[in-house]
Amino acid sequence: MKKDLISITDYSKEEYLRIMTLAAEFEENPNQNLLKGKVVASLFFEPSTRTRLSFETAISRLGGRIVGFADPGSSSATKGETLHDTIKMVSNYADLIVMRHPLEGAARYAAEISKVPVINAGDGANQHPTQTLLDMYSILKTQGTLDNINLFMVGDLKYGRTVHSLLQAMSEFENPIFNFIAPGELQMPDEYKRHLIDKGIRYFEHLEFTDIISEADIIYMTRVQKERFPDPIEYEKVKNIYILRNAMLENTKPNVKILHPLPRVNEIHPDVDSNEKAYYFDQARNGVFTREAIITHTMNLK
Ligand code: CP
Repeated sequence: MKKDLISITDYSKEEYLRIMTLAAEFEENPNQNLLKGKVVASLFFEPSTRTRLSFETAISRLGGRIVGFADPGSSSATKGETLHDTIKMVSNYADLIVMRHPLEGAARYAAEISKVPVINAGDGANQHPTQTLLDMYSILKTQGTLDNINLFMVGDLKYGRTVHSLLQAMSEFENPIFNFIAPGELQMPDEYKRHLIDKGIRYFEHLEFTDIISEADIIYMTRVQKERFPDPIEYEKVKNIYILRNAMLENTKPNVKILHPLPRVNEIHPDVDSNEKAYYFDQARNGVFTREAIITHTMNLK
């Protein structure tokens, strides 16, 4: 049976830990010829810098070859070809499909059509499971554990697919605490809060976080995603809602790290970048090793 990765819940806790182990091995030794003779299709129907380039770097470091597009404008989607037909075709060409698409559920649909495994590189506001695995690898590397983490999620928790996937994954570990910091319009959706309630996990909701920032182990900042707002006026109201500045980190825990899936707009001031608690560029680097791990796990090569 093929092993798709569409939602972070497609993996068990044991698989999360397996990916962490493999990622550490790839960080130690990134160039391994495990994909020799294999072709990976990289289909990006939505813009990306990190996810696409880190996947393509991972494939190259594994000795595989890449076909695909970074801009659907250069594909036959512009002539009206359906996603169904595109996937049917591409799964005849490649051994693995990595796909980003603006529509929620598009990756699951592609997996149902494809003969070869599909990895979801982000589907609308729904899921971004490979980002979550690299986030977990970053948490593990910086905290030494995935248990007992006080995780602050800040910004667009409504449309932010990265926080949805991360919440589900971290809820599998011991004793997490979630602090959600978002304006009323961008609160964490009820289904994710219900998931925590069902598992007996504590969460707290706040409009501000300067008073409680000293409790955080991880501060996970997110961009307010203009492209997801049906009404541009609603975006204008909240676009500058949270800006993390260096001075705010003065009384934070020594182990705290600032994570962000990136790209950022203005929610992390550049004066944070030189603080040793800023981890977002290292986090993006971890994406290559984590994606090497995900690819080899998906293709049963490790
Ligand atoms: N983190 C992330 O998904 O970034 P890109 O949109 O640049 O791929």
